[in-house]
Amino acid sequence: MRKPIIAGNWKMHKGIEETRQLLRELKDMEMSPEIEVVVCPPFTSLSEAAELLVGTAIGLGAQNMHWERSGAYTGEVSPCMLKEIGCKYVIIGHSERRQYFGETDEMVNFKVKSAFNHDLIPIVCVGENLEQRKNGETKSLVTNQVKKALEGLTEKQVERIVIAYEPIWAIGTGVSAKGEDANEVIKLIRDIIAGDFGKDISQKVRIQYGGSVKPGNIKEFMEQPEIDGALVGGASLKAVDFGAIVNYK
Ligand code: G3P
Repeated sequence: MRKPIIAGNWKMHKGIEETRQLLRELKDMEMSPEIEVVVCPPFTSLSEAAELLVGTAIGLGAQNMHWERSGAYTGEVSPCMLKEIGCKYVIIGHSERRQYFGETDEMVNFKVKSAFNHDLIPIVCVGENLEQRKNGETKSLVTNQVKKALEGLTEKQVERIVIAYEPIWAIGTGVSAKGEDANEVIKLIRDIIAGDFGKDISQKVRIQYGGSVKPGNIKEFMEQPEIDGALVGGASLKAVDFGAIVNYK
């Protein structure tokens, strides 16, 4: 019932020339029609990517945005600008933004609401760090992050949101979560949504796993009943790897 979504978060990689090259390679590949495929290049490459992706089934997303539509916010990019370029998705609250740029749950909530108000679909990231995991705080932390991110949204908005469960200790480390463990946290996220917005809505929300996803482990995640795709970092930077992840079957 839920169409899986696999998105590549390129982070601070790929200038315009490299973007052209990677997208040319991806466009030459057969991609499974069962999967919704999205790429999230850095801001400076979005415009080029948008042009190259016209007429393809690959969607475009940004990695961040401000919640205001315009104003004196030096260095920021607004939702209107992303929409104008042709973005459909925007990653919100990635742990790197929370950790290095001080993004709070409140800011994440502003951004999520603003994304919907500007017809963008947020991919909201949540997840615990190693210490929190060791202290047994994963469930309470993720519960809090999800509840705050979704605060004040309508049912119609919630059913369109994408959530990415990305345990911080698994990001860029080569050590991914176990499929079953990720599934358990993702089930918890679905239960939280069911509690706040109803079971029907929760069954429509797509929830991805992210953290050291590679061609060799994607199947383990996609086979889990609650996991609806992946948010891929490092392995999305090479067409051969990203293509193999999308075509994991
Ligand atoms: O947003 C994706 C990400 O944080 C995971 O990165 O490199 O571990 O796949 P990576």
